[in-house]
Amino acid sequence: MNVSGPGPTWESFEELAAAASTCTKCPLAETRTQVVFGVGDPHADLVFVGEGPGAEEDRQGIPFVGRAGQLLTKLIEGIGLRRDGVYICNVVKCRPPGNRDPLPAEISACRPYLEAQLDFLAPRVLVTLGNFATRLLLDTKEGITKLRGREFPFRGHSVLIPTLHPAAVLRNGGNALAQARSDFVLVKRALALHAT
Ligand code: URA
Ligand code: SF4
Repeated sequence: MNVSGPGPTWESFEELAAAASTCTKCPLAETRTQVVFGVGDPHADLVFVGEGPGAEEDRQGIPFVGRAGQLLTKLIEGIGLRRDGVYICNVVKCRPPGNRDPLPAEISACRPYLEAQLDFLAPRVLVTLGNFATRLLLDTKEGITKLRGREFPFRGHSVLIPTLHPAAVLRNGGNALAQARSDFVLVKRALALHAT
């Protein structure tokens, strides 16, 4: 498959991942250990987009392997799926130092990789984790607490379901965890509804 449109084009998912792995298009290249492109099944019906790699992700080169990642894995298993049956990536592919928020310029620089990644993945259901992924992919300034718990059409072939970032769920506990669980039920229902 060839992905075209504005910006760079890549002939395959592997070529895209290889290009990202040596990227120096933003200052995060200077402080990262390695690029964290994504993990999982590229043919999955369900894709998650987080914010950016943390310390553990930067060390291992795999998204969502720290504490937030363990919660994400539990939420995935909670709706009867396996982590290796989905695909997981982030808005920015390199760790912002000290776990600070990614800057607008870093998000813009990295965006072509995410867009091309989503072109290749073309999931039926796309789950955005937290404000950064949700605002970017829905092109809104609205906050996650307002947007979560609903489905939005995405690129014609997908539905986008925003939910709380698992790190925020860990921070806030109780009600946030209940909300995340209920969003995942919506994900499960959307997968069943949009299955081939
Ligand atoms: N938080 C994220 O947004 N992404 C990760 O990969 C890990 C933690
Ligand atoms: Fe390149 Fe994205 Fe890493 Fe910046 S965050 S260096 S744009 S891969």
